[in-house]
Amino acid sequence: MNVFSRIVTSALLMAGLLGFAPCHAQDAPVALGSQSVATEALKKDAVCTRCHDESEARPVLSIYQTRHGNRADPEAPVCTSCHGISKQHVAGGKTTGPASRPAPDVLFKAKGGAYPASSALVQGEACLACHKDGKRTHWEGSQHQSRDVPCSSCHSVHVKSDPVLTKVTQPDVCFACHKSERAQTHRLSTHPLDAGKMACSDCHNPHGSTGPKLLIKNSVNETCYTCHAEKRGPFLWEHSPVVDDCANCHTPHGSTNAPLLKARTPWLCQECHSGDHGAQVNSGANLQSGNLTTANGANPLANAAARAQMTGRACLNCHVLVHGSNHPAGSKFQR
Ligand code: HEC
Ligand code: HEC
Ligand code: HEC
Ligand code: HEC
Ligand code: HEC
Ligand code: HEC
Ligand code: HEC
Ligand code: HEC
Ligand code: HEC
Ligand code: HEC
Repeated sequence: MNVFSRIVTSALLMAGLLGFAPCHAQDAPVALGSQSVATEALKKDAVCTRCHDESEARPVLSIYQTRHGNRADPEAPVCTSCHGISKQHVAGGKTTGPASRPAPDVLFKAKGGAYPASSALVQGEACLACHKDGKRTHWEGSQHQSRDVPCSSCHSVHVKSDPVLTKVTQPDVCFACHKSERAQTHRLSTHPLDAGKMACSDCHNPHGSTGPKLLIKNSVNETCYTCHAEKRGPFLWEHSPVVDDCANCHTPHGSTNAPLLKARTPWLCQECHSGDHGAQVNSGANLQSGNLTTANGANPLANAAARAQMTGRACLNCHVLVHGSNHPAGSKFQR
């Protein structure tokens, strides 16, 4: 957490611009031992916990089992850091129902429609008071922020373990809104998302990024290279669509064509190499003339049955190094 942004935030809070209680960190004397920090924080929580406890349909006290509820941490929020001072709410009677009291200043998830949830902006400000930097540097203007997807649509803070922070459970949080990606990851060929070995956040920063599609890096390729470094090269013979964009041939989430190919060969290759090799090589004239030879003098195409290169994985049988070659005679990616 960046100290400067905290100070700025704190000044804004003091000025009442954000309308929340200042973070506990600012008003706690530094010299206090963690024991008294904890006691002090619990005292502040009592404003709320005298009415709200574990007996509710969605228990609130489990927050004490999370890092937010670590009362020995002077930086950790108290109830009012997130929900606001909520004066009128606190002053209301002890009875149930919105008629008895206005909603708290910041309400994250509407429960049963008693109160409407606060706007995504108000919710975001409450969290960003402490989490503005780091991975949230590009939150402002990001796809999620600009479509009013609040922090709380991905994060659950009153449970012991926030599902979106765990690789195995994270995709389901995203799939609540991204149905077509859910379908794709259940296809034959996928990244190991279901197995919990990978998460959406290995490629995406849901909080915003400088790259396209919320990718963690500036481009698709840079993102892929974080794990598939060997595909970066450098190669003596580069295949230009590979250098350009892995997504020319691959789809990241899932495909019916292994390995994660947008189409099956030869069609995949023929999207760009239409005619060329196919037309010339398959024409009777070329086959008979046998004038197409490899660098070492072999003549594979003349010996191959007509259209042999069109069947199944055929292109790949000869052009085995589609990502690039370092062999001096590998200009056609056969070696
Ligand atoms: C005097 C009792 C009392 C106090 C003190 C109190 N609340 Fe409430 N709060 C209630 C009642 C009653 C409801 C309505 C619950 C219902 O209708 O099911 C409620 C509702 C809420 C809700 C909305 C839950 C929902 O239905 O979506 C939130 C959030 C909340 N309180 C937070 C707080 C916070 C934070 C504090 C401390 C600043 C606080 N409350 C203090 C009694 C209290
Ligand atoms: C880190 C910010 C944060 C802190 C601290 C926090 N809350 Fe919440 N609260 C939330 C969010 C976000 C939700 C929405 C539900 C969820 O994420 O689990 C929520 C939901 C609630 C609800 C509605 C019930 C529900 O589960 O939806 C109540 C009541 C509540 N909080 C009371 C409290 C009390 C009492 C405290 C202090 C012990 C507290 N909150 C501390 C962020 C916070
Ligand atoms: C008063 C400051 C403060 C506020 C407000 C606050 N947090 Fe935090 N948050 C912390 C601290 C301190 C930690 C633990 C240390 C860290 O990760 O930096 C933390 C940790 C987290 C983590 C990581 C938890 C983990 O287990 O690693 C998430 C996620 C998070 N906060 C989300 C939120 C969301 C969402 C909100 C708003 C609903 C919020 N925070 C509001 C201070 C705050
Ligand atoms: C679209 C879903 C989504 C939204 C919206 C979202 N987050 Fe997250 N958040 C995640 C995921 C996934 C992770 C874990 C992977 C990671 O760290 O990037 C995470 C991790 C975090 C962490 C812990 C890791 C760290 O950066 O220190 C914090 C804190 C956090 N989020 C705060 C926020 C705040 C504050 C907001 C709202 C301004 C927010 N998040 C909105 C999905 C989301
Ligand atoms: C509450 C619904 C919701 C949740 C949950 C959610 N998203 Fe989104 N997401 C959206 C909306 C709305 C957009 C912007 C509109 C669009 O492009 O579909 C978006 C956009 C995106 C984009 C950028 C698409 C583009 O065209 O630039 C990515 C990537 C993304 N989300 C990933 C995730 C990931 C990863 C998670 C889980 C950690 C997640 N989302 C959770 C609603 C959600
Ligand atoms: C291996 C990296 C990787 C993983 C893991 C991954 N994505 Fe993506 N995602 C991408 C790339 C790359 C793109 C851009 C694709 C393109 O440009 O054709 C993308 C695009 C998207 C889009 C925008 C789709 C569109 O039509 O524009 C959404 C939404 C999305 N991803 C959500 C998710 C979700 C949800 C998960 C987790 C289940 C996830 N992604 C996991 C790499 C990944
Ligand atoms: C976070 C690490 C990571 C990132 C980033 C990543 N991958 Fe992967 N990729 C993997 C893992 C793990 C496997 C599975 C390897 C295995 O099963 O042996 C894999 C497998 C693959 C496969 C083979 C799939 C199969 O069915 O055998 C392809 C193709 C692939 N990735 C392409 C990409 C592309 C394109 C990108 C960029 C959009 C990308 N990967 C980004 C980790 C990653
Ligand atoms: C011109 C189309 C094309 C482009 C562009 C492309 N690939 Fe591939 N990729 C393939 C084909 C075809 C296969 C299957 C090769 C095989 O089965 O022998 C493959 C296989 C893979 C595999 C799994 C087998 C292996 O070689 O490890 C990974 C991982 C992979 N590609 C990653 C990438 C990455 C990362 C990029 C971007 C840097 C990329 N690919 C760009 C066509 C392409
Ligand atoms: C997105 C378009 C695209 C796709 C898909 C594609 N290529 Fe290419 N390929 C190119 C471009 C562009 C060149 C460079 C042509 C040049 O230098 O004249 C090239 C060059 C080649 C070359 C070397 C040509 C030469 O004259 O040196 C071979 C061999 C080749 N590709 C095979 C394949 C195979 C096999 C596939 C399918 C796995 C494939 N390509 C998929 C665009 C593509
Ligand atoms: C039986 C082996 C074999 C098969 C199958 C094959 N090729 Fe080739 N291809 C070659 C050889 C050898 C060369 C190099 C010819 C030369 O050096 O003049 C070549 C050259 C190329 C070239 C460079 C331009 C040209 O026409 O000379 C492209 C592009 C190409 N092949 C694409 C493909 C595609 C696409 C497929 C699948 C539809 C395919 N090849 C199937 C062996 C094969």
